[in-house]
Formats: sequence, structure tokens, C-alpha cells
Amino acid sequence: MEFSKHILITGGAGFIGSHLVRRMVRNYPSYLIVNLDKLTYAGNLENLSDVADAPNYRFEKADICDPAALKAIFEKHQITDVIHLAAESHVDRSIEGPMEFVLTNVVGTVNLLEAARAAWQNEAGHVFHHVSTDEVYGSLGEEGLFTEQTAYDPRSPYSASKASSDHFVRAYFHTYGLPVKMSNCSNNYGSHHFPEKLIPLMIHNIVNEKPLPVYGKGDNIRDWLWVEDHASAIDTIFHNGRLGESYNVGGLNEWTNIELVRFLCSLLDRKLGRASGSSEQLITYVTDRAGHDKRYAIDATKLETELGWKPSITFEEGLERTVDWYLANQAWVEKVTSGAYQDYYNHMYLGR
Ligand code: NAD
Ligand code: TYD
Repeated sequence: MEFSKHILITGGAGFIGSHLVRRMVRNYPSYLIVNLDKLTYAGNLENLSDVADAPNYRFEKADICDPAALKAIFEKHQITDVIHLAAESHVDRSIEGPMEFVLTNVVGTVNLLEAARAAWQNEAGHVFHHVSTDEVYGSLGEEGLFTEQTAYDPRSPYSASKASSDHFVRAYFHTYGLPVKMSNCSNNYGSHHFPEKLIPLMIHNIVNEKPLPVYGKGDNIRDWLWVEDHASAIDTIFHNGRLGESYNVGGLNEWTNIELVRFLCSLLDRKLGRASGSSEQLITYVTDRAGHDKRYAIDATKLETELGWKPSITFEEGLERTVDWYLANQAWVEKVTSGAYQDYYNHMYLGR
């Protein structure tokens, strides 16, 4: 079969990438979707078992830090477009060891830009969509929102590496005319989220009646978006966004961490048939994260007015679906939390 586009999605076995791959494979049978992933601790092909046999899906296990592998994959699949998500994504791990973040997020991104530049030369019609985070803008005080004009001010090794990759993507647009698009999204939540991040970690610990480690006073604020709404935003920007532009993605949904953890406790008390208020007893305040950004909040007006995107569900609906997915998929949770996860957890939360 002839495909109208051959899209390379990097990091497709991870949390957001797997939702995007599933959406693109199902919604665009005329596109070939090539998922490139190194399958680190965060990548899991079971996330995509429902589309693995689709005629327009291919998987390539590769490292974006390997330029020869990228060249071979571009040639083998005649790649016409890229949507780049592969990254080291967890702030706490970046504090423990920044170098892996520099290698994958910065060097890996530049390798991918080079592979696209070499393959496409100056031909029109291609798109390199770089998926990034609102954390590049730094930390907000009580007022204000991040817009596309907000100056970059990354403060963790993770956000510094993502900011650096964003700068390289813009530099390739201005210097070489590479047809790039960018998106900077707020915190995502949903199914298949690795239980090192706040929401899936709390769900996992509530279910298992383990302490719920809240950093500092729990008054840091995050702006949460359902992962499938992020996938729909990427789809919209990839198809209709302007070249060289970046679009902020978010749904005006700010919560303090402690409010959110309490909400999850009450939701799970209800779902698990526990006495009201019992899971909250598990909340444990722990030492704050170093350099902990106080508040993130996104202004997505540009994406909404220019491209007509908006989130499809409320946070309450999304959290209920997410909790239901975790309860119904304990085997997935068991699998991803076995092995090296225990060492990480013991080190992070039990100090050994
Ligand atoms: P994730 O950690 O769940 O998945 C990352 C994926 O990248 C994994 O499948 C992993 O195996 C793969 N990967 C890592 N290093 C690689 C390498 N060197 N070569 C090839 N593959 C590699 O991350 P996520 O939460 O799905 O985030 C995806 C992207 O979206 C990242 O670029 C992240 O910065 C961005 N983002 C995430 C959020 C969020 O809330 N999670 C918000 C905004 C933006
Ligand atoms: P996280 O999910 O790691 O996302 P990010 O740091 O990229 O925003 O953390 C979300 C918020 O939850 C952040 O303010 C840190 C806090 N947090 C905790 O209080 N306890 C935890 O165990 C974790 C993982 C995060």
C-alpha cells in the first residue's frame, strides 16, 4: 500500500507517545506510523498492544543518540515527517543524574534534527514537530500565565535540557530552514503513566496502603491536562500549525498538590469501598524537592483561537477514567513496578 505520509514518532512506547501513536494509527490509515523508541524503563510496548498489528504501524527499537541508526531508519521507511517525544522526562531523576538528560534530550534531539535535514534537504512539504513542556518557562508566582512570549527560565536539569532542545529546534528553522513546529504543554495525566509521577504514584500507593509522599507543604501548583487532549492538540498543531511557531497547550486547570492528593484519596475510598477519610491518613509530608518550581499555568489562547483546539473533558471526569484504568490494569502496574523500579522507590522515598 502507498501511504501519503511516513511519520516517525519518537518515544512512542512512553506515556504520551503511546496515546499519540494509537490516535494517529487509528485516525489516519493512509499514514504510515513508525514508532522509534529505545525502550528505557519508561517505554513499554504493551502500551500499544491494541495497534501493534495494524497495517500502517511499524516499530523500530533505536536510540536517538545513535546517528547511524537514525539515518538507516529514515532511509528504510522514507520518513516524510517527525513528531519528536523521546526524552528523559522525570524531574526527580534529572536531579539525581542530569547527564542522561543532556544526552537524550539535547544531543538526541540535535541528532534527529540532523537526520531530518540530511534526508529532506530543502524540499517543501515536510514537518518536524518537537513536543516540549511548559517547564521551560520556569516558575510562576501567584499571578499570571505562561504565554508563547514568556522568556525561557528553566530551573531543573530536566527543564534546562528541554529548553536547550527547543532552542536547537528554533535554530534549525532559522539557520537551515528546517520546517519545524513546536508545542509546550502543561502536566499530563491519564492511563499508562509511569508510577514515578505524582498522580500514578499516589494511585498506586493508595491502592497498596503505602505512605503518600507529599513534597514540602503540598502547596505547589500544577496545571493538569488529560493525555488524550494533549494527543489531539499535537495532531491539530502537526496538521494546521504554522511553521516556525510554538503553541502552548493546557486547559486552565490549576490544583495544589495537596488538594489533588486529597481528591484522589476520596475518589479511591469510594471506588475501593473504604471508609470516607481513611486513605487521607496515608498522606506523609516529606523533604521538598530541590529547586521545586512553585507554580505552572498555561495560557492556550493562541492554540484555541488560531487552530480551534479545546480540551474534551473535565479534570474530574479524566481522573475518574484514570483511576478506573489503574484499578482494571493492575497487571500493567505490577509489570512496570517490578525490577529496577523498587531500587528507585527505595532510594527516593525510603532513603536507602
Ligand atoms: P515518558 O518518560 O513516559 O516516555 C519517554 C519515551 O522516550 C519512553 O518510551 C522511552 O523509552 C523513550 N526514550 C527515552 N530515551 C530515549 C532515547 N535515547 N532514544 C529513543 N527513545 C528514548 O515521557 P512522557 O511523559 O510520555 O513525555 C513525552 C514527551 O512529552 C517528552 O518529550 C516530554 O518532555 C514531553 N512532555 C511531557 C509532559 C508530561 O506531563 N508527561 C508534559 C509536557 C511535555
Ligand atoms: P511530577 O509528577 O514529578 O511532575 P513535574 O515535577 O514535572 O511537575 O510532580 C508534580 C508535582 O507533585 C510537583 O510539584 C512535585 C510533586 N510531587 C510530590 O509532592 N510527591 C511525589 O512523590 C512526586 C513524584 C511529585
